[in-house]
Amino acid sequence: MIVLALETSCDETAVAILRGDGSGHELLASEVASQVAAHEKYGGIVPEIASRNHLIFAPRLLDRAAAAAKARLAQIDAFAATTGPGLASSLMIGASIAKGLAIGFGKPYLGINHLEGHLLSPFFGIERDGDNNLKPNVSLIVSGGHTMLIIVRGLTNYQLVGRTVDDAAGEAFDKVAKMLGLRYPGGPEIERHARAGDPKRFDFPRSMLGSENFSFSGLKTAVRYLLPKLHVIPSEVEESRGITTAGFPRGPSTQLRCPRDDKLLADLCASFQQAIIDVLVAKTIAAAQKYRVDLVTISGGVSCNQELRRQMRDASSRNGIELKSAEPWLCTDNAAMIAFAALLRARAGFESHVTEEIDPNLKVA
Ligand code: KG4
Ligand code: ZN
Repeated sequence: MIVLALETSCDETAVAILRGDGSGHELLASEVASQVAAHEKYGGIVPEIASRNHLIFAPRLLDRAAAAAKARLAQIDAFAATTGPGLASSLMIGASIAKGLAIGFGKPYLGINHLEGHLLSPFFGIERDGDNNLKPNVSLIVSGGHTMLIIVRGLTNYQLVGRTVDDAAGEAFDKVAKMLGLRYPGGPEIERHARAGDPKRFDFPRSMLGSENFSFSGLKTAVRYLLPKLHVIPSEVEESRGITTAGFPRGPSTQLRCPRDDKLLADLCASFQQAIIDVLVAKTIAAAQKYRVDLVTISGGVSCNQELRRQMRDASSRNGIELKSAEPWLCTDNAAMIAFAALLRARAGFESHVTEEIDPNLKVA
């Protein structure tokens, strides 16, 4: 069976083609067009720009994916697309294309939850018999829009046990990076600077440790209030005063307002990153123990973070728990994970109706 999937839930346009047989699967093509540059100058994602770009990129990526897979669209056995959660006007593009192809070629259509794509992604590459190898696990999904702990008992059997009550972990990385004058997306920037930093220099809050839910807005505010005490002007304050340079140097062409202090920036990044990691690791391990599950999985953009992966691996092994992380190329948004979820679902007999609507607030559990 060959599945083609589209992912257009946010600012990435992606198409993947996956071939599966009874014993495994092979990724034939995976194309991703990032729109980061188009949105960066606005300081966030502009839905109208995202959907216009999906309309431009999706047909090109379909052609490129089919060429890479050496397959004609008529040879595809099922068409899938992300139907939520995400931006309505963006979701509509991918879902409409997949539905059109399914109707045109008389093949099944599968609407896939973006979060199911993330939570199954750690199993990509090792699955053999569909559901059989989907061992029960505590799944930590950490992305720009979501921070969730889900108990996975099998395909489609998901129980939400914790979620953020305010900002998602990736959102906190992005907002703090912005305060520090770093580029979007902030996670990779903060990770890069944190490598040279002291994670113990600033004692940022670890919120809601007694709960299965998460909260990161207090941490963001703590950074925000600390900066003036360090004589660093947060970037948005500078901008509101009509000063365009950031609190920290952006590049050689930037006129510096603050003395260049790489050590301070590195320590801030490392301390902030450690506060997030401590919370994510503690809650994930606690959930595995509470629900008596001996496997934890991590997925989503923030799970690219090498320090998070290292500390989650150490904590898991100290507690006799196995850790499976999505491969780094599968952590940020892509269509391969959507194709994989669609393949597992198609094999298990699931199919969606083409009248099924997209849902910006679609729940996974
Ligand atoms: O899963 P994703 O691509 O999109 C959503 O579904 O949200 O995640 C994007 C998020 C962004 O907030 C980005 O800053 C964060 O993942 N991210 C990271 C890293 N790489 C991406 N956060 C921390 N460390 C990283 N290395
Ligand atoms: Zn995502």
